[in-house]
Formats: sequence, structure tokens, C-alpha cells
Amino acid sequence: MSQNYKTTGELIKKRILIIGSNGMLGQRLVHYYYTDNNVELLCCSNEKESFIPGIDYRELDISVRKDVKKIFNEFYPDVVINAAAYTNVDKCETEKELAWRINVEGVENLMYFSKVIDAHLIHISTDYVFDGKEGPYTEDAPVNPVGYYGRTKLASENLLVASGGDYTIIRTNVLYGPVKYGRPDFVKWVVTSLREGNEIRIVDDQYNNPTYIDDLVKAIDAAIRKKAVGIYHIGGREVLNRYEFTLRIADFFDLEKSLIKRIKTEDLNQAARRPLKSGLVIQKAEKELDYFPKSIEKSFEKMRQEIDL
Ligand SMILES: NC(=O)c1ccc[n+]([C@@H]2O[C@H](COP(=O)([O-])OP(=O)(O)OC[C@H]3O[C@@H](n4cnc5c(N)ncnc54)[C@H](OP(=O)(O)O)[C@@H]3O)[C@@H](O)[C@H]2O)c1
Repeated sequence: MSQNYKTTGELIKKRILIIGSNGMLGQRLVHYYYTDNNVELLCCSNEKESFIPGIDYRELDISVRKDVKKIFNEFYPDVVINAAAYTNVDKCETEKELAWRINVEGVENLMYFSKVIDAHLIHISTDYVFDGKEGPYTEDAPVNPVGYYGRTKLASENLLVASGGDYTIIRTNVLYGPVKYGRPDFVKWVVTSLREGNEIRIVDDQYNNPTYIDDLVKAIDAAIRKKAVGIYHIGGREVLNRYEFTLRIADFFDLEKSLIKRIKTEDLNQAARRPLKSGLVIQKAEKELDYFPKSIEKSFEKMRQEIDL
């Protein structure tokens, strides 16, 4: 056991290592655990500096095995949450080697050292492991990614399943929430674009159940507390297409809807194919992780309060 083990009164602090702490999900995980007195937190991401001030932060590229080993040996986490990934779906088609190195070999490193020290690894995956022909999908639905990003994420899932270690794979889709640092989430992008009077083109043929990030964070915490092993789907309450979701944003934030132009995915000429009829069935998480996501409007209300949208 690590010599750094610290205690608060009678309680042994849980040591949580957040990887990808500068990302959309990562920063909300930090926000959630940062003030928890029962948690000893170390945060890592690709960049030199943490976007969030005042936290224990180390620069880490998860594809560099010796650096992962060093962090694990020094911090000796009980739990590792991997929110890091090469997430640019289109670039994954042209930067295949890099995508594989981060999304597969990086996860293999995290898995290996988690096993060595008996840490619980929570790994975030995606609905892009499915082909989008007949979603929404349950955890045991057949996988069949249509793009390279999905293939790398599936390969990382397979590594964990075969590892025999303590792992939880959480598949999610279309994250949005009160992200304060880095690139804006979809909701903020829509709100800002429409307020500035810019026309936006939104596809009406991609279906999923957008996930409020803070609901996902709570599900991750439940998976840690319950030591859940296996695959869980985390999404929002409603399956809808992106155009419908955008109209809901415009309604809630009282924005000009005529600026929203309805298009098809093929009009975008993107490098990567997307699963169209996707989405994730959340019943298993409701039952086993007490997962109860907010309604879309309730989540927008929370965003308005937290980031003054
Ligand atoms: N966003 C979504 O809608 C969505 C949907 C389904 C599933 N997911 C999954 O959810 C997870 C979190 O997604 P997100 O949207 O929060 O991603 P994100 O905003 O792109 O954040 C990922 C973070 O990981 C960092 N990173 C990249 N390569 C790294 C490396 N080699 N070592 C260490 N850190 C590295 C990134 O740094 P740089 O920015 O400097 O590269 C970034 O800070 C990912 O596994 C993603 O596949 C996301």
C-alpha cells in the first residue's frame, strides 16, 4: 500500500486519479470530487498546465508507458477514471496511428498498471461502437463501428473485457453541460451562434439521447461506490435527432429559430461516417446505478445557473 495514504478522522481517503481532466467530462469530474474531503485527487491531462486552477495536476500522455507507470507508482490510486481520448472523429480517419496509440495503447497502459496495483478502472466509451442501424442500443447489442474512432474505442473495450481486472466501461453519447474551459459544448455553441445572429446548419437524421455531463459524473461515482464491473449505458431521458435537440435549446433560451437550417448528414461531407439511428438504452444503469437523468429542460436550467448562459 502507498505510504502516502492519508486519513480524515476514522476514514481512509479514496485515492482517485482522473485522466483527461482538462477535457469536457474530465473538468466536471474534477468539479465534483475537488471539494470531497473523503477523496485524495490527482488530475492528469495532455497539456502542460491544468485548465482548472488550484488542483494537484500532472502532465501525462497515456500512450507513454513509463510515464503512466511513474504516476501510478507515486500516487497509487484506488480508482482510475479515464476521460482522456483522441475524440476528433473525423481526424481519426486520417490520423489512424495516433488515434490507435491514444485510444487503444493508452488504455492498455492504464489497464495494465490498474491491474498491477488492483485499482478499479472506469473507462468511458461511446455509442460509436454501434453502426446506428437500429438504435437505441442495450449493453449486449451487437457492436459494429462504422468509423475508425469507433473501432479504436471498441478495441479498448475489448482489452478491458479480456483483462480480468476490475473495470467499468461506461458508454455515453453527445455530452453537454456547464463546461467552463476549452472548447464549448454543443448547447453553448448553439446559444452563442444564434445570439450572434449566425445561421447554423443542423442534421435531422442523427438520433441519440444527449447526456448531461453532470448526470454522467454521478453515474461514474455510483459505479465507483458500488464497484460495478462490466458495461453500462449512460444517456439522457429522450432519444431525438440533433435538429429537434437544437429547437429545444432555442425554445428554452428564447433564440431565433429561423437561423437553424435543417440538413442531412451527407450534406456535411465529413471524413467519418456516423451512426445515424443511435442512442443508448439506460435501463441497466437505472436499476444498478440508481441512475436518474434530468429532463432536457431541467439540465438547461442547471447550465443557465452555473455558467450564466
Ligand atoms: N463528447 C462527447 O459527446 C462524447 C460522446 C461519447 C463518448 N465520449 C467519450 O467520453 C470521454 C470524454 O470525452 P470528452 O468529450 O470529455 O473529450 P475531450 O473534451 O476531447 O477531452 C479529452 C481530454 O483527453 C486529453 N488527451 C488526449 N490525448 C491524451 C493523451 N494521450 N494522454 C492524456 N490525455 C489526453 C485531451 O487533451 P487535448 O485536448 O490536448 O488532446 C483532453 O483534455 C472520451 O472517452 C470520449 O470518447 C464523448
